[in-house]
Amino acid sequence: MHWPHAFERGDNLFPKNPDGIMRYDYTDYKDTWKAMEKLVEKGLVKAIGLSNFNSRQIDDVLSVATVKPAVLQVECHPYLAQNELIAHCQKRGLVVTAYSPLGSPDRAWKHPDEPVLLEEPGIKKLAEKYSKSPAQIILRWQVQRKVVAIPKSVTPARILQNLQVFDFSLTEEEVSHIGSLNKNYRYIVPMITVNGKLVARDAEHPNYPFKDPY
Ligand code: A2P
Repeated sequence: MHWPHAFERGDNLFPKNPDGIMRYDYTDYKDTWKAMEKLVEKGLVKAIGLSNFNSRQIDDVLSVATVKPAVLQVECHPYLAQNELIAHCQKRGLVVTAYSPLGSPDRAWKHPDEPVLLEEPGIKKLAEKYSKSPAQIILRWQVQRKVVAIPKSVTPARILQNLQVFDFSLTEEEVSHIGSLNKNYRYIVPMITVNGKLVARDAEHPNYPFKDPY
């Protein structure tokens, strides 16, 4: 389930009002989960999981689930380390997948004032120490904290480089140091302009996940 909040049902995947505000649906995500469980029972899918749910919403799903979510997929990188959310999921046997693990430098709405993850001095220093790239340091960090990372690249050499993270190890201190670079900084928040102001697109939906601490 991509988000805990839903858009209005129909052929248009991004239904909007003329003012640019999304048209929502208010189906309880627990009902959606029960419907997805039926797909597992029928053998139509092997595994089902969640994305962009916060810890409270995960527990809410677990309270009704007969099929446990296999995975939680969330934005996760050193500037949004998700330390508490990962501990929450691992305690409950959910694997965490990090999307935008490199801070999505190709995102369309990039603003010049935003911090650039791959330029982070603490990461660059470790890259020099291990003769690896900053991307490889970040991916290795996720491997060591048992988080699955899905970096995106259209560059063959980088795709290969992003796999070459199993021939070195960070020390425990380095793993926690990278975790302490956390700024709770989200690169991936869908935004819209309302009355000339840039606002989070879905923040008014009751199930918007990012108002809870984690
Ligand atoms: P490109 O696709 O041009 O190779 P994320 O996975 O966080 O969304 O980040 C994807 C972005 O990071 C893409 O712009 C991709 O560029 C770039 N990228 C992927 N791997 C590396 C790497 N090893 N070093 C630097 N940039 C990378």
